[in-house]
Amino acid sequence: MSISCLDDDGLRIDALARILEDLGRKNIVPKYIYTIPTVQNPTGSILPRERREQLLALTRKHGVPVFEDECYADLTWAGSGPPSLYAMDPQQVIHIGSFSKTLAPSLRLGYVVAVPEVMNQIVACKREADSGTGALDQMVVAEYFSRNFGEHVEGLTQTLHGKLDAMVEAVEREFGTAVEKMWKPKGGIFLWLKLPDRVDVTKLVGPAAKAGIAFNPGPEWSCNPTTSKSHLRLCFALPSKDVIRDGVAAFARVCFEETGIPERSANIRRAGS
Ligand SMILES: Cc1ncc(COP(=O)(O)O)c(C=O)c1O
Repeated sequence: MSISCLDDDGLRIDALARILEDLGRKNIVPKYIYTIPTVQNPTGSILPRERREQLLALTRKHGVPVFEDECYADLTWAGSGPPSLYAMDPQQVIHIGSFSKTLAPSLRLGYVVAVPEVMNQIVACKREADSGTGALDQMVVAEYFSRNFGEHVEGLTQTLHGKLDAMVEAVEREFGTAVEKMWKPKGGIFLWLKLPDRVDVTKLVGPAAKAGIAFNPGPEWSCNPTTSKSHLRLCFALPSKDVIRDGVAAFARVCFEETGIPERSANIRRAGS
């Protein structure tokens, strides 16, 4: 699925309908549609309820199940959003979530929700693949989250939203109008940006790393690498607000040295521009 199948509300159902019709003409039925309806990665959009209904109707019509990855659904700024696709049509949807974003990635714990016929097949595959998941980690998460989930997630979401604000301010200050588009996410842990076409972000990875900065170049986050070479994803989960501010300033410096963009940071014209 190319990034052009997305808009600011997430998956475009008209684009998906065209793809399914094209495949249908070749007698191809996809095994499933994978999608991230809530806090799409990398654009941070939330698929509105109406589109969720359209998606379910369309995939029912074509006999294609939907694989719903909701690992960011607990981390939205506005609290509860539209219902999950699974809640709207359990027969049609396999729902997965993760504790990587709400508690700790290193736990490697997630979950699947599906109707029993589907679940039986998934469990059989999982046993074969990795002999099951460690019981102790599951017991620790179950024990902690059975009492603290709401409070923990509320605090975490507030912290993440504050860090996003710090990052957006820093990007506006350091990059100014050099940022052609900023997708302010409705939750989650990352910000997706578009710089001018003449900036190839893949060439910034090395110099940025030398300056101690890691970022995600657009082509690694898109099914269409050629149209996303000026996009990038910045993650704000782990660093403090001060580290975020310093990091964005240092990244703007690297970007200017390599590409001449941004010409101004904090409204000051850079030397040599
Ligand atoms: C959309 C999405 N799904 C799944 C994962 C992976 O989650 P886990 O750490 O549970 O394997 C990520 C991690 O970044 C993600 O962004």
